[in-house]
Amino acid sequence: MAYDAVAPGSSPQTDPFTPSADSVLWRKDFLLGAATASYQIEGAVDEDGRLPSIWDTFSATPGKVLAGDTGAVACDHYHRWEGDLDLLTRLNFEAYRLSIAWPRVMDEAGRPNQKGLDFYKRLLGRLKDKGLQTFVTLYHWDLPQHLEDRGGWLNRETVYRFADYADLMSRQLAGHVDAWTTLNEPWCSAFLGYGNGHHAPGLANVRYATQAMHHLLLAHGQATQVLRTNDPASIKGIVANVGRGTPASSSEADRRAAHLFEVQHNAWILDPLLKGEYPADLWALWPGAEPLVLAGDMQTIAAPLDFLGINYYFRTNVKSDGAHGFVDVPLPDVERTQMGWEVNPDGLRDLLTGFHGTFANLPPIYITENGMASDDQVRDGRVDDTQRISFLKRHLAAVDQAVKQGVDVRGYFVWSLLDNFEWAFGYERRFGVVHVDYGTQQRTVKRSGELIAQFIDARSKRD
Ligand code: FCB
Repeated sequence: MAYDAVAPGSSPQTDPFTPSADSVLWRKDFLLGAATASYQIEGAVDEDGRLPSIWDTFSATPGKVLAGDTGAVACDHYHRWEGDLDLLTRLNFEAYRLSIAWPRVMDEAGRPNQKGLDFYKRLLGRLKDKGLQTFVTLYHWDLPQHLEDRGGWLNRETVYRFADYADLMSRQLAGHVDAWTTLNEPWCSAFLGYGNGHHAPGLANVRYATQAMHHLLLAHGQATQVLRTNDPASIKGIVANVGRGTPASSSEADRRAAHLFEVQHNAWILDPLLKGEYPADLWALWPGAEPLVLAGDMQTIAAPLDFLGINYYFRTNVKSDGAHGFVDVPLPDVERTQMGWEVNPDGLRDLLTGFHGTFANLPPIYITENGMASDDQVRDGRVDDTQRISFLKRHLAAVDQAVKQGVDVRGYFVWSLLDNFEWAFGYERRFGVVHVDYGTQQRTVKRSGELIAQFIDARSKRD
């Protein structure tokens, strides 16, 4: 087995999860939290005035989601939220990253839906009562279907509707939110949603992807201005999923392929945000796919950020496709997760130190997602998720290495608090530190969750 095993019942002092004595993880101001997203956990898709989202439509379309799963019930969090927030405190988490379902809080005319708003007010109020820091994402992919019917992110109107939504939410929830995130992973929304069709709304045209990305980033920029006006006390940022690409050989062509992989996954988003321009090499990869950009857009997109959220999962080994692109060359004999994703903690460290070297204005970073799926089973009331424990430990060590090399990382959120609806893979892929039995909705804290709780407790008791 490629990962180190954990002795059942070992003490927090000897568990491999416990970081080295000089690790940044021991710093009490290094925030440790858990993350979820509305469509993946809430269920209750037609209750209290919630409108359909693009993920309701997509998952109801045969062949789009594994086993025909949908988010209609998910973890039933809309009804079980109090117990789920109790899990956060039971696991000693200091922060919780959640998202708001846009179709739950606004009607088609843009008027507030009070019942939906009340749900999030109750939830955030409870989190504050519990002393947790709240990281709230406005858009984790559940676009109202009525906006998609008018072109979705291909239509510039959606940018203005998003700014209206940000305005409503920040007026209603100011004081309940420590950190606002405008978008989660615009790469997935633009590329998987409009570029290859693996995600909702399921369109497949690279020209669409670049235009959708431009509108997503512009929506981020406009919303950030609104959030600053309405809720000056909070911090504002955006969450990007970043990808590590390495060359299959040392040939010039393969090294160029790895560079283009990272341009497509990272620079496409980070350059506009931090440099105010799209990377020129993107148009070498996708000739003629430049979006329509209006005067002033790039300045709006590049407005200063208080933080950058980084989601990291795996490394991709690539070679040249013989033309102007790249193709994956999966490495044999490497450790993989239930998703088939290669476990590569060094990729996280190298990306962080690389961004630190590239962007003079890189804002403080939070790792807003990191984690892995495994085929976890409850046995005698326990879930021994050995690979996840090792995975988390090694990725936290990678974060520590990046901090020691000068990167300003302020916290880490595990994906995810709960097993949940993993988009096109449905319920089969389990990412939680808490197991969910979808038949009974019973929650069982996995061994990884117990160890995190023990560590945070031990840290809080240190001088
Ligand atoms: C990320 C998503 C998150 C989750 C993880 C596994 O891309 O932001 O919702 O599905 O992947």
